[in-house]
Amino acid sequence: MCGIVGYVGSRQAVPILLQGLKRLEYRGYDSAGLALITDGHLKVVKAAGKIAQLEAQLGPHVPQAVTGMAHTRWATHGAPTTRNAHPHTDCTGTVAVVHNGIIENAPVLRAKLVEKGHTFASDTDTEVLAHLIEEFYQGTLAEAVAAALHEVEGTYGIAVLSSREPDTIVAARLGSPLLVGVGIGENFIASDPAAVLEHTRSVVYLDEGEMAVVTPSGYRLMDRQSVPLTKEISQIDWDLATVERAGFPHFMLKEICEQPESIRNVLRGRLLEEEGAAKLGGLNLSDEYLAGIDRIVITACGTSWHAGLVGEYMLEEIARIPVEVEYASEFRYRSPILTPKTLVIVISQSGETADTLAALREAKRRGARTLGIINVVGSTIAREVDGGIYLHAGPEIGVASTKAFTSQIAALAVFTLHLGRLRSLSILQGREIVQALRMLPEQLEAVLRKQEEVEALSERFMRATNVLYLGRGVNFPVALEGALKLKEISYIHAEGYPAAEMKHGPIALIDELMPVVFIAPQDAVYAKIQSNIEEVRARGGRVVAVVTEGDTAIRKVADTAIEIPKTLDMLTPVLAVVPLQLFAYYIAVRRGCNVDQPRNLAKSVTVE
Ligand code: AGP
Repeated sequence: MCGIVGYVGSRQAVPILLQGLKRLEYRGYDSAGLALITDGHLKVVKAAGKIAQLEAQLGPHVPQAVTGMAHTRWATHGAPTTRNAHPHTDCTGTVAVVHNGIIENAPVLRAKLVEKGHTFASDTDTEVLAHLIEEFYQGTLAEAVAAALHEVEGTYGIAVLSSREPDTIVAARLGSPLLVGVGIGENFIASDPAAVLEHTRSVVYLDEGEMAVVTPSGYRLMDRQSVPLTKEISQIDWDLATVERAGFPHFMLKEICEQPESIRNVLRGRLLEEEGAAKLGGLNLSDEYLAGIDRIVITACGTSWHAGLVGEYMLEEIARIPVEVEYASEFRYRSPILTPKTLVIVISQSGETADTLAALREAKRRGARTLGIINVVGSTIAREVDGGIYLHAGPEIGVASTKAFTSQIAALAVFTLHLGRLRSLSILQGREIVQALRMLPEQLEAVLRKQEEVEALSERFMRATNVLYLGRGVNFPVALEGALKLKEISYIHAEGYPAAEMKHGPIALIDELMPVVFIAPQDAVYAKIQSNIEEVRARGGRVVAVVTEGDTAIRKVADTAIEIPKTLDMLTPVLAVVPLQLFAYYIAVRRGCNVDQPRNLAKSVTVE
């Protein structure tokens, strides 16, 4: 997610804007920039990298200006370079735009604008907005922005400046948060309260489709039809740290709760309902090549490796192609047998994990084509793979990966659908997968409504010293992931196992002190897992089960059951993992652990 801050008033804008950007740093970004009205002209300064680079660009004598806006970019379209950093301007250099979101029809709009003679200076979808506003700018800036936004499909939180109206900022919101900060003789625009909190606690949150026209003396609000609105002013009573977490006590809980939106983001623009197929721009692997591959190797680390195991089940079941999943740290030192018909998929949230990067380079050295499933745009791995699927999950700040994991699975499902339809998957089978994917965000919201149930569980199990997680089939990787979550944030030892494998040793651990967590949805192996639960109960084990809504059979034998909605077997992991994320989270909080930055861990392991 990008960060936006704007100022109109009587004080010098640059220090206010730079401090506002620094308050947004926690969101993660790869470049930053600002636009000022100085001496009646529009001045734009931007730089790749951190705020310090932008400050260096500004130099010791910052421009004098009382109107300006600034932006930190989390790249979605176009590499994180200076030329792609925001703000973006029109051909006349009198209109500047900063944007958070994705303009889905940018290519079509860009082509039309080029035909009309507009010249583009960047690869971003955002720049299209600047030239559209230029096209419509006959009356006021607000009218031009409203007209331009009617041409746009996608999501936006934008702020717009023009040297023709030097004391005005126009802002608009559709899908990306934006607010007006209300001051005395000055006013602000921001993507979140953290950027303006030290100047004002009075804010007006824009709702979907609304616009604001902000000047030093006040602000006007209007809806998409430019009908004037009045809205109440909210008072922010959070401290800054809480504001940065959007009111959540920890980034991890915020990111667990963001999963309905992050799944919407990974699916956005990629599903073709009618054809029962997927559309993946940036894959950079032709249909002919994909139809001809004879094997897939998936390599990753940690949680991303668990996502790869889910991908293995999906691809073998749906695309009927042999798949093996390798720890990147092992793959890089083996002598893997790869051919030009082997596709190597690397999965990495950060795109910087040293072992995964080394495995990627080894795969390329051995002649395999490579596909990256990455969250951080422009990261090292993203730049070195042959083709990629970005998660668009937004920055994941908590060290324990949550929304990235479910987004990785959704991205693998979309790729599986694409590959399956190139091979033996029928249009009707494809449509079934598309429909099931479309339902996931709402189903995740239903699972998130179980938070209190799971929190109550954490009270009972927070003193456990060992926990066993058991799952079968596509939910065996969920058992591994649930165990990893508990280990890494609560420091309780936990193990994930294939449920049937328990009989070959781990069952010796079972006693009344040992909680056993079963992932037991009503899927193809449901009857088998029921008998595994009976085996545990017969030995006095305490069973927590993740079950399908309405399941009464397992509820009878488990100590506790958390229900999740019914979906396709292959997509169950997206829903089943959420109670386990919450279970680990609440236990860790009760144990007083540092949930967002657990001991000994780093968010990205950039060393061997
Ligand atoms: C997951 O909770 C851990 N933080 C860790 O296992 C992580 O998944 C692993 O280091 C891989 O990171 P990546 O996805 O950024 O490559």
